[in-house]
Amino acid sequence: MGQVRLGVNVDHVATVRNARGGLHPDPLDAARVALEAGADGIVMHLREDRRHIRDDDVRRYRASFSAPLNLEMAATEEMLRFAREVRPHACCLVPERRAEVTTEGGLDVAGQRHSLASVVDALKEANIRVSLFIDPDPVQVEAAAAVGAPVVELHTGRYAEGRPGELDRLRHAAALTSGLGLECHAGHGLTYANVGRVAALPEVRELNIGHFLIGQAILEGLRATVAEMKRIVAAARV
Ligand code: PXP
Repeated sequence: MGQVRLGVNVDHVATVRNARGGLHPDPLDAARVALEAGADGIVMHLREDRRHIRDDDVRRYRASFSAPLNLEMAATEEMLRFAREVRPHACCLVPERRAEVTTEGGLDVAGQRHSLASVVDALKEANIRVSLFIDPDPVQVEAAAAVGAPVVELHTGRYAEGRPGELDRLRHAAALTSGLGLECHAGHGLTYANVGRVAALPEVRELNIGHFLIGQAILEGLRATVAEMKRIVAAARV
């Protein structure tokens, strides 16, 4: 089995930055650290409400990094225009409104084949690799192949919640991708504790992980940060 690429999602660095309305911490600084640590690419989700990542973050990343950027976005005209402008290496189409979501949370590709096919085509024409974020459901995997997407990202959220049978659903959906010529990615809710069984699925080529990594980085990094602040404060009083 080949290596599995890791895409690091830096959205929640932007969440912390935005909590104070300033510039710190910069998600691009986090991207740099993640890449230095071995991440194979960076993931940013540009939401319609811009609640974490902003247009400028994506533009700055493209201006100063050459490592792959996977831009997660809704399949809307506005986002398509933006993707064509910034030209990320990949776009992952994700649901944003309730109507686009299947019962479990992935994109309802089977229910909106026509509109998704035109967005997939437009992105492919712009030389952007397209993936569709779907539930591990054979109907959705087949619909993704039918609309011409080269990649699917299987939603691991229910597996991460520990629901019974979810690993089997992921296994079957992943197996189906190779028969259909689709590249298989996976993500959502993955942690140190649960990633191994997904990473072991032979078809999975890429994992995209965000929330846990950023949360864990706070816990693992706080010791050094507090120690440094203590040092600076003490040094100011000698
Ligand atoms: N993949 C997709 C398509 C996502 O939308 C998200 C969440 O933004 C992730 C992966 C990462 O999920 P998490 O932040 O739970 O690791």
